[in-house]
Amino acid sequence: MEHFVIRGDRPLLGTITISGAKNAALPACVASLLTDDEVTIDHVPRLRDVQTILSTISSLGKLVVRDGERVSIACGGEIHSEAQAGFVEQMRASFLVLGPLVARLGRALVPLPGGCKIGARSVDLHLHGLRALGARVTEKGNTVTLVAKHLRGARISLPFPSVGATEQIAMSACLAKGETVIENAAWEPEVMDLVALLNDMGGEIEYRDGSLHVRGRPTLHGTRHAVIPDRMEAGTYLIASAITGGDVTVRGVVPEHLRLLLSILSEMGCKIEETDGAIRLTRGSRPHPIDTITAPYPGFPTDLQPPLVALLSLAQGKSSVEERIFEHRFTYTATLRQMGARITVSGRRAVITGVDKLHATAASAPDIRAGAALVLAALAAQGESTIDNLEQIDRGYEHMAQKLRSIGGDIERVG
Ligand code: EPZ
Repeated sequence: MEHFVIRGDRPLLGTITISGAKNAALPACVASLLTDDEVTIDHVPRLRDVQTILSTISSLGKLVVRDGERVSIACGGEIHSEAQAGFVEQMRASFLVLGPLVARLGRALVPLPGGCKIGARSVDLHLHGLRALGARVTEKGNTVTLVAKHLRGARISLPFPSVGATEQIAMSACLAKGETVIENAAWEPEVMDLVALLNDMGGEIEYRDGSLHVRGRPTLHGTRHAVIPDRMEAGTYLIASAITGGDVTVRGVVPEHLRLLLSILSEMGCKIEETDGAIRLTRGSRPHPIDTITAPYPGFPTDLQPPLVALLSLAQGKSSVEERIFEHRFTYTATLRQMGARITVSGRRAVITGVDKLHATAASAPDIRAGAALVLAALAAQGESTIDNLEQIDRGYEHMAQKLRSIGGDIERVG
């Protein structure tokens, strides 16, 4: 099985260019279902999850052409109303096709995404929103069927600012009759990037006072759109600089998207310099401990929780991290403990007592962000580590080994 071989305990030094955001590219590809015109998306990262969504879109009848970082999605005749099980099982984000399909065709049949290692990952808020827009929802076994002669605008209040539910409802509401208000909507940069794309397609969406206001249109048209940089990739490599005592610059980023991470890292004693589109992090002395919680944007992003906990494992003192988004997002800490970390988890709270050194281990990447955390720990640890199940890393990090080698990381992909 392919795996990384990482020889740790050496500082990372140099500059990394950040790729386009996975979690902006995925909904952007889905939005192409809302029109028969061609939609061209630039800055699309080469990731397994992107490949999965493009395969889903083409299985629904779209013509998908990929040329480097550019993806063009055009009409290939009638789009189908049924999504194949395999794609949704592989990746939850494929479930986002449900709303656009029922908005365009009046019917959609999509498998329900399963839970995953980090939580139940329910879709009740997606279905709540689509029902409010007038869709009749029937669940049978592991699939959900939606039928609606046409969607009509509604006032929908989300009990939790779900990223996926906000995206699903916003895309569908663009083709509903009348106005939709999504209260307590998510406004992560990736959600706002999708809103920008939908408006470029002729949608009329405005984010104001915590709600998304969508004025339905009869049709949307094609456009060309470049997705925002991946703040999770950028944050991961900044933490890699900190955990190895390095000096790394990430370029092609939007510092505003990383505001809270940057303030936490400077509170830990890292030196951070921002220039236009780039952030440089050098770590002085051993990091100081901190306490934080994960929260919807602009709170600390749950996707950077595992890399941060890896860093806190080497801080000089006791830290705590509360995971308020997903119910099981600390399972990877067992591997960090194998490496010498002192972490206790009770419920959604981890307490991390920093140690002087971590030692190498053999590990498997459990999911995208936990996999990244284990790579970072291995880069800091004494000795030679191996990490397999790289398909999880490949889902969310473009050419990770190559990028890390370019800044002095001793990492090889073998097997
Ligand atoms: C998106 O997932 C991201 N994925 C996740 O990134 C990210 O962790 C998450 O948002 C939170 O920021 C993509 O954008 C493709 P949610 P999503 O709906 O949309 C519960 C990564 O590594 N919930 O905001 O699934 C849910 O169970 C991935 O790139 C419901 O209960 O996140 C979870 O506990 C991991 N019912 C919480 O809300 C629903 O209908 C957050 O979910 C929907 C969600």
